[in-house]
Order: sequence, then structure tokens, then C-alpha cells
Amino acid sequence: MEFTRCKGLHGEVTVPGDKSISHRSVMFGSIAKGMTEVHNYLQGADCLSTISCFQKMGIEIENRGDVVLVRGNGLRGLSRPEQVLDCGNSGTTTRLISGILSAQDFDVTLTGDASIRKRPMKRIIEPLSLMGASIASVNGNDCAPLTISGRKLHGISYTSKVASAQVKSAILLAGLYADGETRVTEPYLSRNHSEIMLNYFGADVRTEAAGAADSFAAAGTAEPADTFAAAGGSGRAPLPAGAATAVIRPAEELHGNLVEVPGDISSAAFFLCAGLMTPNSEILLKNVGINPTRAGILRVIRDMGGDLTLLDERAGSGEPTADILVRSSSLHGTVIEGAVIPTLIDELPMIAAMACFADGVTVIRDAAELKVKESNRIAVMAENLTAMGADVTETEDGLIIRGGRPLHGAAVDSHSDHRIAMTFAVTGLCADGVTEIAGADCVNISYPQFYQDLDRLAR
Ligand code: S3P
Repeated sequence: MEFTRCKGLHGEVTVPGDKSISHRSVMFGSIAKGMTEVHNYLQGADCLSTISCFQKMGIEIENRGDVVLVRGNGLRGLSRPEQVLDCGNSGTTTRLISGILSAQDFDVTLTGDASIRKRPMKRIIEPLSLMGASIASVNGNDCAPLTISGRKLHGISYTSKVASAQVKSAILLAGLYADGETRVTEPYLSRNHSEIMLNYFGADVRTEAAGAADSFAAAGTAEPADTFAAAGGSGRAPLPAGAATAVIRPAEELHGNLVEVPGDISSAAFFLCAGLMTPNSEILLKNVGINPTRAGILRVIRDMGGDLTLLDERAGSGEPTADILVRSSSLHGTVIEGAVIPTLIDELPMIAAMACFADGVTVIRDAAELKVKESNRIAVMAENLTAMGADVTETEDGLIIRGGRPLHGAAVDSHSDHRIAMTFAVTGLCADGVTEIAGADCVNISYPQFYQDLDRLAR
């Protein structure tokens, strides 16, 4: 697929539903009692994988497109699937479902595409095993395929080395079925959609600030600071400021509910950055989720001098949303590190590309997690931006971008990573010559209509 410079981007976009929240609505609805009605469910391939996995475990799910209806059978209402569960390209499906499957009274095998079969699963195998689950990597490489035999689970107090909502959520879901309280501490608070939605479905989950206070994301949830890791895991190590602990009590049952999925800020990010970095542009993004554990990009845009306005801020099913207006801006470099990283982890490829159009240096650090996403996003961003003439250095845990050099079109590869494909479609609109993206189709993972929406704004 090819992209050339555009003269400006104008108009409104309503991005599709949030991927993380969509997954959770079907998962939690499937193990809740009664009907869950989901509005604005993301019809991307990842979220369709989640629907198909639960249908294979006997859950009646009707996908009407605009509305998804899930007839949950309760915490013990899943049945043994006849086939292997295929999670496709979806890390969220693979990891969260593992937490649920660890407590069932049947055996199951989980797998996914070539990318999923390379992504690290030790991060969930270890805590779920500590809870008493029988979970193993079939090929012994700590990756999928995984076999899981449900067991009686015990509550644990676990300290995760990485700030990962997928790890935290897998443990919390297993914790629903455990014989006592389960605690998960992470170095920085990651997205808290599971905590919000589990409570909304009737579970008992709370968040405590585990480190000294950097409360920008954990605001309102802080209890007395405990600056040391809870027992379990690898002993008592000091935690950084911003560390957070999620605590869940076992549940009798969850109850189905109505879920309004807000637009995905990770999808909106491509248009936010496109509007800021393309001259003569003004874009209004409608109904975007701005949960503080996801909205780090808004903070970074403001730090870089971007012209961004939040309009009509409101609360959906416990998830704040707003319309967001952006206009072309003179941007300057910034440093992106520490507690903000988990709140914009999926947006970093697009932010790195935008930094090429900012004056001065942008440093991204503490983001080694980018290496284990759908592609190694540090290496792939460095490779593709360099091909377009940018001055970029790859580091162990991020990128250093010296902005201000004009970019030229090049042949770039998405590495089958949807966020890389969308990043370079936008970047190609701000470069001389032709940018050709190999493997551009993978946007169907999270945003099937992306190219049509981008094209409409460029007219
Ligand atoms: C997600 C969490 C993040 C994110 C992914 C979706 C989720 O992954 O990158 O796209 O829905 O919980 P990690 O938990 O591995 O950081």
C-alpha cells in the first residue's frame, strides 16, 4: 500500500471501540450470570478471537455488529472445548483467558498465530502456577501453545517485574476463583479496565498505592504507602514511586451488565498525531476513552507543545470519555519515561514517528516492553524511520529521536504489526515521495476501517 504527502487533514473521526475493554466485556460477560449487552464492541480480528474462544466453551454469544449479546452461565458455567482454543494474534485473549482456564474443571490447549507463539508467557505461567494452576508451554519455550488443567486455586501475593495489565488481569481473574484474597503488585500502575469492569459486574477489587506517592494515575485509590514488595515472588525489593497493588477477593458470582465501550485512544492516537504533525490540519475525534491509565499520550502531546483540547468530558460505564480536537502544531522534543510508560505503551510507535517532526531531541526510556509486542517495536521503529531519513538511535529500553530532519518516502515493513502499519501510513503523509508499506492489511487486528478513515480526512 502506498502513501504520499498530503496538504492537510480535516474532519471528524469516530474511532472504533476500545480493544482492551471489548475483550473484557465478552470475557467477563461469559463468566457472569445472565445477559451482558455490549455496545460499540470492536469488530477487529483480536476481539473476534475472544468471542470465538468463549463460543467454543459453550457460551451463547450473538455478534450483531453494533451490539454483542453474551448469555453468561456463571463462574462455573464454561464447558470443555472440543478443539484447541485459537487466540489468533491476541496477547490479551491468550493471557487473560489463561487466568480463567486455570480454575476450570477441564483441560484445554491454547494457541495462536506465529507472532503469539513467540511472545513470552512465563509472566503468567509463573504466578498462575504459584496459585496452584497446572499450566505448561507445550514446546518448553515459555510460549504458546499452552496446556492448562484447571485446579483449585489459592490466593497469593505476587510482585510482577513488569507493569502489565495482561499479567495483572490474568492473576485477578484466577483470583475470582481462589480460596482467599489475591494481591498483585506492579512497578507502575498499568491500565485498570479489569478492575473497573470486574467491580461493575459485582466483584470486589481495590487498588492500593504500593510505592511512595507518584499518584498521577493512582489518584483517588491511594491507601497508606508500603514501599516494599509484598511477600511472595522474588523477596522484598524496594518498589519505585508509582507502584500499585490490585487486590481481589474471591467471588460467589459475577452479574451480567450493560457495557458501553468508548472509542479506543490507541486508535485515536494515529489521528491525534497526524493532526499535530501535518501542516494545515484540524481533526475532531469523537467519543474517545480517556481513562488516566491509558491517556499518557495526552500528557506527552501537551509536553511537546501540541494544540489539543478536550471537549464534552463525560463518564460511560465507569470509563471517562471525551471528544478531542487537535490542530497542526510546532512541536518540541521531550523525555518520556517511568510511570507514564504503561499509560501510552501502545502509542509509542506513533509518538516516536511524531517526534521526527518536533524540534530537538525526544528520549523514550523504560520501555523495554516494546520489544515483546506484536513485533519488536523498538527495532522495527528504528529500522523504518531510519529508512525514511530520520535521525534515530535504538537503545536497550527505548529510542532517541533527533527531530527536525525532513523525511522521505521509503519501502517499510509492518512486520505484521497493526500499530506499525498505521504509524507509517500517517508518517507517509508527511514525507516527500512515496512510502510503501509491506503487510499493510494487518490493521484489521484493531482498526479494520483505518485506511478509509484516514483517506476521508486527507480529501
Ligand atoms: C493490554 C495491555 C497491554 C497492551 C495491549 C493490551 C490489555 O499489554 O500493550 O495492547 O488489554 O490488557 P501488556 O499488559 O503486556 O503491557
